[in-house]
Amino acid sequence: MLHKNPAQSMIALFGLLFCMASATQAQHAAPKLANVTILATGGTIAGSGASSTTTVGYTAATVGVQRLIAAVPELAKVANVNGEQVFQIASENMTNEHWLTLAKRVNVLLAQSNVDGIVITHGTDTLEETAYFLNLVVKSRKPVVLVGAMRPSTAISADGPINLYNSVMLAASPEAVGKGVLVAMNDQIQSARDVTKVNTSTLDSFRTPELGLLGYIQGSKPFFYRQQIRKHTTETEFDIGALQVLPQVDIVYGYANVGPVAVDAFMAAGAKGIIHAGVGDGSLAARVKPALVAAHAKGAVVVRASRVGQGILARNGEANDDELDFVVADTLSAQKARILLMLALTKTTSTKEIQRMFYTY
Ligand code: DGL
Repeated sequence: MLHKNPAQSMIALFGLLFCMASATQAQHAAPKLANVTILATGGTIAGSGASSTTTVGYTAATVGVQRLIAAVPELAKVANVNGEQVFQIASENMTNEHWLTLAKRVNVLLAQSNVDGIVITHGTDTLEETAYFLNLVVKSRKPVVLVGAMRPSTAISADGPINLYNSVMLAASPEAVGKGVLVAMNDQIQSARDVTKVNTSTLDSFRTPELGLLGYIQGSKPFFYRQQIRKHTTETEFDIGALQVLPQVDIVYGYANVGPVAVDAFMAAGAKGIIHAGVGDGSLAARVKPALVAAHAKGAVVVRASRVGQGILARNGEANDDELDFVVADTLSAQKARILLMLALTKTTSTKEIQRMFYTY
């Protein structure tokens, strides 16, 4: 490095010092932000009301994704964000076709090296169902976070902006990689498999009553304390890439005085699977059981679930499932059992295989 000419030595020395300073500066430069895509589908998080005190009786799905992003400039501090308006619907109107479109878009985006995570804004009424469907068909370990709001964007103390901020931060977090599809509401992190909406209107409506939430979000950071051990995302055997339609699976509800009409009607409408959301541990009323037996004889797969909400649906407990050739839902709610049975029926009609799936996912 030393030159005979002192001037050249000085230039070389300054060059060396500049390189060292640049390297030091680079070491302390702000960390590169993750790229997070927000896929908007509608719901209350995109809702608007007549006044700032309107927290019920508002209109869902009126605010576009760019306005949702613009309303939370702090997003730029936690991720490089871009938005796509996939649908603009109230989530009670979500359909199998919406799910296939959304899941295919998610898989295309996550296969791109310039997408590190995805946030899906969604109505809360069927958010848990969309989350579980994606949990079974997303083919990536990258974070996918579903988020909604219990108050419209126009309300005092709307929860949408902070829920969106937390969700984008979570989707940008290395800690969320490989955890399955997540739901982030009310500063809590829940698993897609076990979360459910338990209240019609309060901010803390999303709970995992007995199996427990996965963690919290506090101070723009995620704190995980547990993780989902049932298979999900890259571990699942389901592939919707070539699917245009999902098999029809319907839910019949158990209650005092129930009869066989609903089972018969769903079968007449072409159901390939019936979820029986029975009372207690999935008990079958004497007037309903023959209809379910007849449905299975016609080729439908029958799954015994419970309307109760918590606990294991015991195989061969309230009914002789081995003899009836029925499947039991394990701890899945009826609405989530429907999702798993639809996907199972894209692979098999073997009740033995399907029962395995209910103990796997
Ligand atoms: N219509 C309901 C929905 O879109 C509003 C509830 C909400 O999003 O919180 O799910």
